[in-house]
Amino acid sequence: MLRIAVCVSGGGTNLGAIYDALDSGIIKDAQIVRVISNNQGAYALERAKAHGSDAICVSPKNFENRDLFNAALLDALAECKPDLVVLAGFLVNVPECIINAFTNRIINIHPSLIPSFCGKGYYGLKVHEGVLSRGVKVTGATVHFVDAGIDTGKILSQKAVYVEDGDTPEVLQRRVMEQAEWIILPDVISKIASGDIKIG
Ligand code: GRF
Repeated sequence: MLRIAVCVSGGGTNLGAIYDALDSGIIKDAQIVRVISNNQGAYALERAKAHGSDAICVSPKNFENRDLFNAALLDALAECKPDLVVLAGFLVNVPECIINAFTNRIINIHPSLIPSFCGKGYYGLKVHEGVLSRGVKVTGATVHFVDAGIDTGKILSQKAVYVEDGDTPEVLQRRVMEQAEWIILPDVISKIASGDIKIG
């Protein structure tokens, strides 16, 4: 049984897609053992509690400095003994101590076709604002391993989504979520649980 810890910061729609895939059997032989947010007000924590998951907040506001926050985040992850850590809308740069503790065991969903519109400063709506201002006709989402860089780890899955005339960043974000993120993230987790994608 694959033990999954999910890190979230916001609405948790990607977390919701994972729960739906677990409930429907798309993801087999896996369980979410903990949901961790850096944001006490994240609706993702409400989603986790509604599914009976262990849901906790580790907020940098509660620590004197970043090193203490990083250590607490590592402890919160190590404590639940996950096989896989999923960053699902997690807006924290993962510290080296966690990358080293979970090498090739952390995956992230990014709302563009990496290597476009990724890296420092590209997160959430900013990604879609960049896509629209550049005028590209096709965007999408990417699931990748997390390494010491920002959005630089090995790409595991991608799905393209058309940009449509008149799109706003919010409309495009929703389409990328519906047509790409909520499909490829559960699919990659399913492949990891079945052994088709190797971790560790
Ligand atoms: C989404 O755009 C996701 O791609 C990005 O964070 C945003 C919010 O995700 N990583 P969620 O609704 O909290 O899953």
